[in-house]
Amino acid sequence: MRVVTTVREAREARTGLRSPLGLVPTMGYLHEGHLSLVRRALSENSTVAASVFVNPTQFGPGEDLASYPRDLERDLRLLEREGVHLVFAPGVEEMYPGGCDVWVNPGPLAERLEGAARPGHFRGVATVVTKLLNILQPDAAYFGEKDAQQLAVVRAVVRQLHFPVRIVGCETVREPDGLAMSSRNAYLSPEERRAAPAIYEALVHGAALARQGEMSAERIRSEVRERIDHHPELRTEYVSVADPNTFEEIGTARDGALLSVAVRVGRARLIDNVRLCSPETR
Ligand code: PAJ
Repeated sequence: MRVVTTVREAREARTGLRSPLGLVPTMGYLHEGHLSLVRRALSENSTVAASVFVNPTQFGPGEDLASYPRDLERDLRLLEREGVHLVFAPGVEEMYPGGCDVWVNPGPLAERLEGAARPGHFRGVATVVTKLLNILQPDAAYFGEKDAQQLAVVRAVVRQLHFPVRIVGCETVREPDGLAMSSRNAYLSPEERRAAPAIYEALVHGAALARQGEMSAERIRSEVRERIDHHPELRTEYVSVADPNTFEEIGTARDGALLSVAVRVGRARLIDNVRLCSPETR
């Protein structure tokens, strides 16, 4: 496994990698969710590259950029064990020489939901993903459905900027108790960790309501919110039932709608989602 830190080395290393190349972009502090993307990429490509870069432009003022967990040595061990061929782990100055004036602005999709809660977040994501695709020229790139809106933003960028890359969405990997794996779970105290599975339980309950025929998105939102906020450690920031393409809130819980939440747990902010299905498609 080759590890490079500069754009020049990354481009040079790319020319020696057999195609198709799969890319797994990450911010490091890897867990089984990230590794599931790596395994999928390895199963579909001749070679796989991963990037490890805590991207400053996608963090807002007052967010957790400074304290975001980092352990590059451990990440490299895990990636090597999986059989990754190339790791790109640049510094901030390498990715943003002289700062950032040129942005990829993902439009209205990026203003809703997570974008509304975190202004500028998806502009930072779209910009760094564009840089990574341009530097590493992969044939396919792998993203988790846990960050459903991020996946949609990346698909929109690739489609509208004509990147010749296939974007692959991968299922959310969960802890045995249902909590979606996240690098930010490291922030949780033992009590907070014990309460956190209620987030996914509430989503599953919401999905069950829809499957049993509940049509009112508002009823589903309020039941999900109630179940989460019942725990003193948890505080919902939003509960959304949205169109999975536009991320606009909807009134009727139709098939394929995205039920998603952002929840404050101590100093962590966790997101999770499930798809709704109606009784006919049960
Ligand atoms: P990060 O949070 O490190 O996540 C990297 C990739 O792993 C993302 O595509 C994310 O959706 C996926 N992922 C995270 N947890 C997952 C889980 N439990 N199951 C399945 N996939 C999971 O997302 C980012 O980094 C950044 O925004 C990035 C795309 C790298 C741009 O900076």
